[in-house]
Amino acid sequence: PNKKKIIIAVDGFSSCGKSTFAREVAARIGYIFIDTGAMYRAVTLLGLRRGAIGPDGVDEKALTDLLSEADISFRFNPGRGASDIYLDGENVESRIRGIEVSNSVSRVSSIGAVREKLVHLQQQMGKQKGVVMDGRDIGTVVFPNAELKIFMTADPAIRAQRRYAELTGKGEQVTLEEVMQNLLERDHADQTRAISPLRKADDAIVLDNSFMTIGEELEWALELIGKLTA
Ligand code: DC
Repeated sequence: PNKKKIIIAVDGFSSCGKSTFAREVAARIGYIFIDTGAMYRAVTLLGLRRGAIGPDGVDEKALTDLLSEADISFRFNPGRGASDIYLDGENVESRIRGIEVSNSVSRVSSIGAVREKLVHLQQQMGKQKGVVMDGRDIGTVVFPNAELKIFMTADPAIRAQRRYAELTGKGEQVTLEEVMQNLLERDHADQTRAISPLRKADDAIVLDNSFMTIGEELEWALELIGKLTA
């Protein structure tokens, strides 16, 4: 049967497993998955590399100028079963996950001109529907009319442990305290920034996955989606 195509917005706190969840949902239903956090991270990497972000902070004007010339796109990586992010033609998917980018990305994502540009790109990417988009402002700003909005949350200690395992698994030299600190700072920054702060959309459904497996999360989501697209 011809299923109705919808937009699925997944928002929530850092390291809740939003991307893993959104990627899996998209794969199961043949939708395109878009990780908007990766876009803010790519802009941060650009700024760090080109000197618009340094020890003294972020030069907003320089960063905005760099961004106006930059090309940010996604390309499907069959090996991973998901899209990798490209910055000016270079695959930077793994480069954007390090602690250096993580430490500056909140600051970058608080800049109005950066958000404006990325939100516009995201709206273009979702125009045809059939997308699962994860971020902080998808259900509130990017697609306020999304047919399904999920707001993800989990206990901070559990989130820190998951992120720590992920980073050390990739050989990154970090301590659990550092990871916890970074996570709490990002939660705070995300919720208190002046432009498009992280908040649950009134019509979003909360998914607390502290004690859920990804399989249970998927089962829950696929049932909801089945009803909405029937
Ligand atoms: O999801 P993530 O941790 O990769 O996101 C990186 C940062 O980007 C995070 O600190 C919040 C910000 N972000 C945002 O402000 N809006 C989005 N739609 C996605 C991410």
